[in-house]
Amino acid sequence: MNQIKNLLIVLMFFLSQFSFSISPNKETLSQKYSDYFPVGTCLSAGEFGSNSIKNTDTELLNQYNLFVAENSMKPELLRTDNRGWNWNYADSFIKYTRSRGVKVRGHVLVWHQMTPWWMTAGGKSEAKKVLTDHINKLVKRYKNDIYCWDVVNEGVSDVYGYRKDSPWYKAYGGPEYIGDAFIAARNADPDCLLFYNDYNLTMPNKRSMVKKMIRDLDLINKGLDGIGIQAHWSLNWPSISAIEKTINTFYEMGLLVEITELDITCYSPIRENEKEKKYDSKLEDKLAKRYKEIFELFRKNAEKINSVTMWGISDNESWLNHFRGFNFYNEVRANYPLIFDKDQKPKKAYKEIMDF
Ligand code: G3I
Repeated sequence: MNQIKNLLIVLMFFLSQFSFSISPNKETLSQKYSDYFPVGTCLSAGEFGSNSIKNTDTELLNQYNLFVAENSMKPELLRTDNRGWNWNYADSFIKYTRSRGVKVRGHVLVWHQMTPWWMTAGGKSEAKKVLTDHINKLVKRYKNDIYCWDVVNEGVSDVYGYRKDSPWYKAYGGPEYIGDAFIAARNADPDCLLFYNDYNLTMPNKRSMVKKMIRDLDLINKGLDGIGIQAHWSLNWPSISAIEKTINTFYEMGLLVEITELDITCYSPIRENEKEKKYDSKLEDKLAKRYKEIFELFRKNAEKINSVTMWGISDNESWLNHFRGFNFYNEVRANYPLIFDKDQKPKKAYKEIMDF
């Protein structure tokens, strides 16, 4: 019995030499991609009870040379009910990024979600004043820290044109708020890069609608510099060719292209009732293969891609643990969408995107 035990101990020790970990003197992800594009991720600064800045191992944070605030710069977290400001979370995020000397994406000036009711409660002219004032103060405060802003997030619906359920669309009685947001951001900072950010842009009809919006609202003359492709993708969708077509479509319009929110769900992107999966070797291999093919595509198109940002620092921090189909849930259904696992250890997917 003892012999077996000793053999197991030796075996475990031997295997532990091959367990994948990040060592301080190893090349980081952003160093590996320094000739291609900056590589970033989103961080929480204490909002919603999660603080990935404080809770993440420095070796992991060192992997990235670009960060974006997951939630702390959203209107609901920045503004108080009496039209005031709560800068705590956003300032603590910026304090951290200043200490790192990294690139910072601004997310998000105007969105249909997480927007206090009072911002759009008045009619069109009141909403325009609120929108312009909000953008002016926020952009100016971080003018020297933030190189680009997601000025408008998700202003187009997946199926029928503009997102008419946006409180901004309703207050304005139409999509004009989108152009006003770009004008306000450009007036606040002549140098900052201004992006329109959205998901499902690999869907041809949504992609065409965004192109139409850019033309109809004359957004390039109002300050638009680029498109943020939210890469909330799954193991089998969208196809590599659809991703490449989307990158090319906006690049050929003369726009900058940034991959802004990359994560890969292991569940159906539409069905809500899939049972929780285990992160077994089969799933690990599938995820690794998917990240490998996606980053091969990114490297092949590096001259068209201005940055790549993951959406989360490690699996346990991912919003996807609370999201199924199209809805948020209190209870967690474990998801494994990122390249670092719930214990902040690099996954096979990390190895695959480093191995070229
Ligand atoms: O942490 C709490 C948890 O303790 C609680 O039990 C649970 C249920 O109330 O809520 C958890 O906080 C949630 C948090 O996500 C968890 O990460 C918040 O309620 C929820 O509002 C928050 O949602 C954020 C979502 O935007 C809505 O603002 C996600 O963090 C954030 O990742 C997500 O990011 C968006 C981008 O800004 C825009 N593109 C889509 C992307 C995904 O929805």
